[in-house]
Amino acid sequence: MGKLKVAVLISGRGSNLQALLDACASPGFPARIVRVISNVADAFGLERAKRAGVATQVIDHKAFPSREAFDAALDEAIRTAGAELVCLAGFMRLLSPGFTEAWRGRVLNIHPALLPSFKGLHTHQRALEAGVKLHGCSVHFVTPDLDDGPLIVQAAVPVLEGDDEDSLSKRVLAAEHRIYPLAVKLIGEGRVRLEGRVVHIDGAAGNPAALLNPAD
Ligand code: GRF
Repeated sequence: MGKLKVAVLISGRGSNLQALLDACASPGFPARIVRVISNVADAFGLERAKRAGVATQVIDHKAFPSREAFDAALDEAIRTAGAELVCLAGFMRLLSPGFTEAWRGRVLNIHPALLPSFKGLHTHQRALEAGVKLHGCSVHFVTPDLDDGPLIVQAAVPVLEGDDEDSLSKRVLAAEHRIYPLAVKLIGEGRVRLEGRVVHIDGAAGNPAALLNPAD
């Protein structure tokens, strides 16, 4: 079976893109990145893609009269690249319902919180203010509603005494870099089944260890 062809959409530094590029560099990984698309011309992630020898494309949303017109250009670029799966990795544009319906079950996003808590922006600051003891990140399928799609993989990290937004975001980001490649691997291996809102992972071992914070 050939490798799953993936397009990655970015707007910025691209550290999650880097995690995906690194994973795809191992011979046994079941996916490869066929194109990186950015809506921001000077996004650092574009450099990361070029270094890895992956084709890049800039599609500036400001050059389009509407969200639908921008999304149509994205759609065309993704199809032209032959991608079967789209990974949003710090892509700071909302996608129109027409796009998410057309690509239903084939677009992933990574969100820096344990969804359905803390949808939207500034998740780390909001988690600190809420006083949660566990925070984390989620990879989910994209639906028309923001940060609302079926969950594929989540990672929890502790919120530690003295944490600020910076220290907490670093801890979450390290977990993001583990779970995004994991989610793509599971899809590439054909083990992810979407039933309604719920994702089932065939042959998943599960992780029975509860993360207690503070430790007992
Ligand atoms: C990450 O925190 C991701 O969860 C969120 O945007 C950030 C992108 O960071 N969606 P990077 O560009 O991948 O470094």
